[in-house]
Amino acid sequence: MKALRLHAYGKNFYKNLSVEELDRPQPGINDVVIEVDAAALNPVDYKMARGKVKIVLDPPKPFSLGFDVAGTIIAKGMNVLDFKIGDQIYAKVPWSQMGTIATHCLIDQEYLAIVPSSISMQEAAGLPLVGCTVMDSFRIGKLQKGMKILILGGSGGIGSFAIQYAKYLGAEVFTTTSTKNLEWVKALGADHVIDYTKEDYRKKAQGVDFVYDTLGGPHTSRSIRLIQKGGTIISIAGHYDTDTLKEVGVPSIYIRINQMAMSVLLLRMRLKKITYKHVWSQPNREKLEEIARLVDAGKIRPIIDRVYPFEEALDAFYYLQTNRAKGKVVVTIGK
Ligand SMILES: NC(=O)c1ccc[n+]([C@@H]2O[C@H](COP(=O)([O-])OP(=O)(O)OC[C@H]3O[C@@H](n4cnc5c(N)ncnc54)[C@H](OP(=O)(O)O)[C@@H]3O)[C@@H](O)[C@H]2O)c1
Repeated sequence: MKALRLHAYGKNFYKNLSVEELDRPQPGINDVVIEVDAAALNPVDYKMARGKVKIVLDPPKPFSLGFDVAGTIIAKGMNVLDFKIGDQIYAKVPWSQMGTIATHCLIDQEYLAIVPSSISMQEAAGLPLVGCTVMDSFRIGKLQKGMKILILGGSGGIGSFAIQYAKYLGAEVFTTTSTKNLEWVKALGADHVIDYTKEDYRKKAQGVDFVYDTLGGPHTSRSIRLIQKGGTIISIAGHYDTDTLKEVGVPSIYIRINQMAMSVLLLRMRLKKITYKHVWSQPNREKLEEIARLVDAGKIRPIIDRVYPFEEALDAFYYLQTNRAKGKVVVTIGK
């Protein structure tokens, strides 16, 4: 089998990546082995390659990259009874099985589901990480029918799924994007699309109940200003809350440093009775089955920006790192 492997972290990590020949994995009792049709990239892939995630995940090098995948089962362990050889599945693999930008990969049966029947394998590969992250975020933030939500970054992989899922839940959706993306983001169902290059979303989305912060940096702080008292900010890219850091097993010294860095922000949130949580996606079979139901019922449309062949996987990384992707960036592996 072949896999895209990283040999060293670095800002210019491209020179440390290469496609290499490896032994095909053998399934453990709870695993399947799949022949990969397509793998989707996520910002976590380049953040990992740059060494930005090593506080929580620092595998021995070289290691294979990629979390999202769709493919066909070619072998399975003795405890795998719900899936058979030949099933087409999709998954976001757990950290310990990272390496989906490859011809084959191993997946624990708890992390996969049958692909939605109405879409291609390339489209299916782009759904697991963003879909499960958004579902987790809105469940934890208790997004409900009638609530007003601001989704920062409506045209990204996360934002394009989040708009559709928030509409499905019955929320009124405000979102930000740049001029070139206004029309298609509106077509995803957003009620109010704010061009952040021309308008100030702090004024346009004043008084929302919920902010979904997919940008981090100054945007988390700005969200405090615009959200109504008692609202909820869920971030997937901004400051970490202590509970989340404990959940992912970060050393206590780092947790203390983070608490100090967040103290002013936390105080401002407390004064406004805001609930804040940094969510880490926790994909599993149940959530993937729910995504498949929503896709096949026409409630969620997979949004693919660009598709690259395996030999051009580095170009796919280059493109995603521009931070301008409109939906998902996918690498095709098989056939
Ligand atoms: N915690 C978790 O479990 C988790 C899970 C998934 C993702 N994440 C994080 O969430 C973030 C978003 O992920 P993604 O997959 O959506 O990334 P992405 O697809 O690469 O996002 C690209 C999009 O961001 C938009 N964008 C960039 N700057 C913007 C700004 N100032 N205002 C509004 N939109 C802006 C761009 O639109 P324009 O071209 O119009 O600017 C582009 O469409 C990343 O940092 C990722 O690491 C975290």
